[in-house]
Amino acid sequence: MAEAPTRNRYVDVPKKADWTIEQDWPSYSAQEHDRWRRLFDRQARLLPGRACQAFLDAKAKLGLSGAGIPDFDTLSQRLQALTGWRVVPVAGLIPDEMFFTHLANRRFPAGAFIRRESELDYLEEPDVFHDVFGHAPLLADPVYARFMEAYGRGGCRALKLGRLRNLARLYWRTVEFGLIDTPEGLRIFGAGLLSSPAEAVFALDDASPHRLAFDLERIMRTKYRIDDFQQCYFVIENFDSLRRACDQDFAPLYARLGAAPDIEADAIVETDRVITRGDLHYSRNKTA
Ligand SMILES: [Fe+2]
Repeated sequence: MAEAPTRNRYVDVPKKADWTIEQDWPSYSAQEHDRWRRLFDRQARLLPGRACQAFLDAKAKLGLSGAGIPDFDTLSQRLQALTGWRVVPVAGLIPDEMFFTHLANRRFPAGAFIRRESELDYLEEPDVFHDVFGHAPLLADPVYARFMEAYGRGGCRALKLGRLRNLARLYWRTVEFGLIDTPEGLRIFGAGLLSSPAEAVFALDDASPHRLAFDLERIMRTKYRIDDFQQCYFVIENFDSLRRACDQDFAPLYARLGAAPDIEADAIVETDRVITRGDLHYSRNKTA
């Protein structure tokens, strides 16, 4: 059956003052649930040995499965019992200030729509699979949960200080594309990687990208790509070190960054602790 030309049937749904909507779970079609199932099964096969154990454990604890698109209320009840977080449905991207306010109050805004059949491998706007499969499980981890709340507070402050550009880079390099060091080797914890079959493999196994130790100030100066695999991934020691690095007033840091030049997405700088120096063949072949 041909799909409707509009990709997101929630666009015209009335929004509340905080930009959330009704998920209206019974309205998902069998095809939409089946699409979730295929996306889920593909990642579930790929991620053992690649995703960090905290993600794999939380995914099971929250009852996420290939049965179909989760009901946000049921998921939120489980999450709330563990860390006080909820997942709230939104129609798509929401204003920055509202996004940060939700995070600061332990609510993760998640797209309610599911991608179209033609977008199974890549889509521009986060859908329910990216947001719920990728982001929700780690909110069940108490330390990660605290980090995300602190990030929300930091976002509200960065907006007031005009430094969102710098803070957004932290989100990109950790919450979306972060790697974590474990006794078993590097593992994925960023939602952009957890929900992407190709980049989950690329980020861990390919010779192309650099893998560098987490460095807050360096990350805030580093450009990133939104339209292709990353040229460099940052590796945190553990969630507590990430939380401690971020649970501070960034104002003095922003003041220093004001005078510091940006760092290119594929650069290695003198202060880097290099875990893997990439050969960058992937990005160079693309631009050749
Ligand atoms: Fe995301």
